[in-house]
Amino acid sequence: MCGIIGYLGPRPARDVVVAGLRRMEYRGYDSAGLAVIDHGRILVRKRAGKIANLESALAAEPLPDTEIGIGHTRWATHGVPSDVNAHPHVSGNGRIALIHNGIIENFAALRTELEAQDVVFSSQTDTETAAQYLGLEVARGTDLADAMRAVCRRLEGAFTLVAIDPTQPDRLVAARRNSPLVVGVGEGEFFVASDVSAFIEFTRSAIELGQDQVVDVTRDGVTVTDFQGQPAETHPFEVTWDLSAAEKAGYDWFMRKEIFEQPKAVADTLLGRFTPDGALKLDELHIPEDELRRIDKIIIVACGSAYYAGLVAKYAIEHWTRVACEVEIASEFRYRDPIITRTTLVVTISQSGETADTLMAIRHAREQHAKVIAICNTNGATIPRESDAVIYTYAGPEIGVASTKGFLTQVAACYLLGLYLAQVLGTKFGDEIAAVMHELAATPPLIQKVLDRLEPMRELARRLVDQRSVLFLGRHVGYPVALEGALKLKEIAYLHAEGFPAGELKHGPIALVEEGIPIFVIVPPQGRDQLHDKVVSNIQEVRARGAYTIVLAEEDDTEVDPYADILFRLPRVSTLLQPLLAIVPLQFFACELATLKGYDVDQPRNLAKSVTVE
Ligand code: G6P
Repeated sequence: MCGIIGYLGPRPARDVVVAGLRRMEYRGYDSAGLAVIDHGRILVRKRAGKIANLESALAAEPLPDTEIGIGHTRWATHGVPSDVNAHPHVSGNGRIALIHNGIIENFAALRTELEAQDVVFSSQTDTETAAQYLGLEVARGTDLADAMRAVCRRLEGAFTLVAIDPTQPDRLVAARRNSPLVVGVGEGEFFVASDVSAFIEFTRSAIELGQDQVVDVTRDGVTVTDFQGQPAETHPFEVTWDLSAAEKAGYDWFMRKEIFEQPKAVADTLLGRFTPDGALKLDELHIPEDELRRIDKIIIVACGSAYYAGLVAKYAIEHWTRVACEVEIASEFRYRDPIITRTTLVVTISQSGETADTLMAIRHAREQHAKVIAICNTNGATIPRESDAVIYTYAGPEIGVASTKGFLTQVAACYLLGLYLAQVLGTKFGDEIAAVMHELAATPPLIQKVLDRLEPMRELARRLVDQRSVLFLGRHVGYPVALEGALKLKEIAYLHAEGFPAGELKHGPIALVEEGIPIFVIVPPQGRDQLHDKVVSNIQEVRARGAYTIVLAEEDDTEVDPYADILFRLPRVSTLLQPLLAIVPLQFFACELATLKGYDVDQPRNLAKSVTVE
């Protein structure tokens, strides 16, 4: 939550910072601001609302060309989104401009302490306490990096901080705990940012900072220490994707682009992870097979769409491994004293690798000596770093706030893990595993097929644009697909939408059915699936009560024809693989509907891409 960037180098800092903020706007868009140092003074522009507002402010009152600058795009926690609460915050003595991502939990106590020293606050934010504190330290003559370390030692909670001092225009200092920070190293220029997308235009050489580290950036280079000032180990890496991956490439929305990238995202996620004869090859899973054989329970922990990906995976993992698999929302898991032992395998799923609740769940699980495997899309993020092993999804950057390719690749990665466990545990014969693996590997062209036939969904969105409520029904793996389809509508089209297990219909949800209500139904494969006929009966039941039925059924399934107002055909696959196809038209429908309603699909109200606070 919140995107931050700092720049030191020969380019106009103002322009580099605003370009970086634009790329990170998905992280928060309640306000934006930047600060530069000009002739020993800090100059700030900041505005409530999206970056466009900041750009207008800059056009009206330009900032000079400088070689150092910091900027911030905010998702508000403490203090309403207003100009005054926007970052950067400048200490009352004018010695520090500072930006922050996270929540400083002990800010109230610190504020009282500072007010007792006659510090006057001008905002309601937790961030200003860090700015004021740092300003006091620096004014006492403490070196900027030492002062930052001293402040960090006093802060509790989650924070990435970046600060500049107007008397030192060739230096910026940043720190992180529980929130992300990467350093970009170019030719004679340096960047610090929440996300590599902020500087990918200028350099692909990056350094990942560890937990509780401070980075001191000068023209001579970068020095990293821990909060005590001891030299710290860092991890340099090259960003493997290029700028075009972080741009819209002619699409109106990132989300739409990401929907259409799904065949490649899934193919890339599967690539190199199985042998030609269909055996699983997860070299990155550095957990000895002996330990995996002792696993007697799997708990998948995640939030949002990643949680629904976990719900899909449960069906497959239990079926293939015969090990009980629970799926839990991370924020619930953490606070209910879950039963975890040394023989529990915790699998966390997170696109960003930053989600605070998921991260805390990992820490809790590891304290109980459980093994933790992360499924993650962001190289070097905190969640994979704190896990015993990681299976990366290779979706490329996902920028639309509503997850699409993230979800699909998470399902694919969970399936790889499930099949791998079945191989290690011996719960499936090699040829059975190979058959599933080959079918999984054949899904990308089928996803493409679905993408090629989305036109009816566009038409449907036009027809349903004034609807107030939409229901989704599914069974087995179709049930989490229904939940995810409903979530997409809530997130971006601000529409009341609910997903239900179709078998539960008569226990309540059917009372919601009234004349004309649109109901999407995901129908399991015909003939090979015992639930098919039951779901067809459910369609009849809701249609008899006036529902407008949108039926997703496989090619050649003519049984559904009489009961479908709209029929969307899915390529034939086995039941467990159907979610990889069935979710695609639902994502597209939500994107279409939100577009028709004139909403900002990529930056829906109140949301942020990664939730790095509780
Ligand atoms: C936010 C996003 C969702 C995402 C969820 C989990 O709520 O808006 O799209 O599914 O966080 O994020 P993660 O990065 O952990 O997968």
